[in-house]
Amino acid sequence: MALEPFDAIDVIAAKRDGGAVPEPELRWFVDAFDRGVVTDAQMAAFAMSVRFNGMGRDEIRVLTSAIIDSGERMDLSGLGRPTVDKHSTGGVGDKITLPLAPLVASFGVAVPQLSGRGLGHTGGTLDKLESIPGWRAELTSAEIRERLRDNGAVVCAAGSGLAPADKRLYALRDVTGTVESIPLLASSIMSKKLAEGPDALVLDVKFGSGAFMTDPDLSRELAETMVSLGEDSGVRTVALLTDMSAPLGRTIGNANEVREAVEVLAGGGPADVVELTLALAREMLDLAGLPDADPAAALRDGRAMDAWRAMIRGQGGDPDAALPAPRESHTVRSERSGVLTGLDAKAFGVSAWRLGAGRSRPDDAVAHAAGIDLHRVVGDAVAAGDALFTLHADDAARFPRALASLEGAWRIDDAAAGGRPPRVAARIDANGFAPALSRPADTALPFPSGTE
Ligand code: URA
Repeated sequence: MALEPFDAIDVIAAKRDGGAVPEPELRWFVDAFDRGVVTDAQMAAFAMSVRFNGMGRDEIRVLTSAIIDSGERMDLSGLGRPTVDKHSTGGVGDKITLPLAPLVASFGVAVPQLSGRGLGHTGGTLDKLESIPGWRAELTSAEIRERLRDNGAVVCAAGSGLAPADKRLYALRDVTGTVESIPLLASSIMSKKLAEGPDALVLDVKFGSGAFMTDPDLSRELAETMVSLGEDSGVRTVALLTDMSAPLGRTIGNANEVREAVEVLAGGGPADVVELTLALAREMLDLAGLPDADPAAALRDGRAMDAWRAMIRGQGGDPDAALPAPRESHTVRSERSGVLTGLDAKAFGVSAWRLGAGRSRPDDAVAHAAGIDLHRVVGDAVAAGDALFTLHADDAARFPRALASLEGAWRIDDAAAGGRPPRVAARIDANGFAPALSRPADTALPFPSGTE
């Protein structure tokens, strides 16, 4: 057996004692983990040390680069279009990729969206699109390039060749209480995005009950870390901090979310889904060198819809086919009049998952017609007896547990407490943090005011 240049115990001890791990040692440690020389126990001890002691900016860059080097990098050069990727940290009712990718592609930008399937209470983009008859998530690298060259937008499964060390490291973090560590989260997310090789990247970093990182201050720190990491790796990166305390739009599930995305592409759809789609589209178009492009016009005049239809057809789907319909439905009505002032995103996400819209294990199947349609959203007036939301499932036996997770999950008050807050709370780029100008003072986040 070849002699290893470093010792895993020294690397772990350096991090355990609060020091920085030098670049050669850190690169070796990740590579040796990938080769099975550094054991799972050693990597878990290292992850816990990072969880407690953090990492410096340069260490995070090196860790990310070492994870990328464990696999292949996609080559998106020579497409004849700028490539701009988008990543969301995940939320409830987050169908934004569906209208956003074709919308931005309709301006001649290549948008590679290599996505995953949902696990737990946040849905997966591929699960949603697989509601469309014939649509295929698995594409070869050659097909991805062909779709990007011909149509601009592609949403497909990320192959196992991208950042394989992250897959093993994430599985270890999942069982050792080390998921919620900003350096580990940032390097995990960004290794996969940077391995795709985009020219630029826009991040949608959520906070609030339905988000991965519920605390706004921590989600801001995660966003700042990822923006620095992107920039340090030569990829222009912008993040929007967005509110995920209530579900996004009026649908949570799969087929119903596709329906809502198509409404947005047809120039309609819920105000918050349109707001976030346009905000992200403007950032992506700006990074693609098209600061004057008007994405709202492309939603109104059908260009985005044409790009959607081409994107779906290009992956075997029929954009005109009927979407799966639920076999069983159950509507919940309001017991009182007033104004809806809260809908807890996490509770609605868990409820949709219990209805069959999500999976508990990676190989579970999802029920494409299962989910929840919201008839009222935060800020709406409600009369006693009005339908608040409808649960859908393939089997009515799922309703009791789904309803149980919704106990105390919505709130109706006599008067609106501040109306409907905008989704976009702040923007972060290489120059720093800026609160969104449109956010009313009474919904302000606990962030320092003014631009830093
Ligand atoms: N998603 C990722 O890709 N990595 C994490 O660590 C958490 C969410």
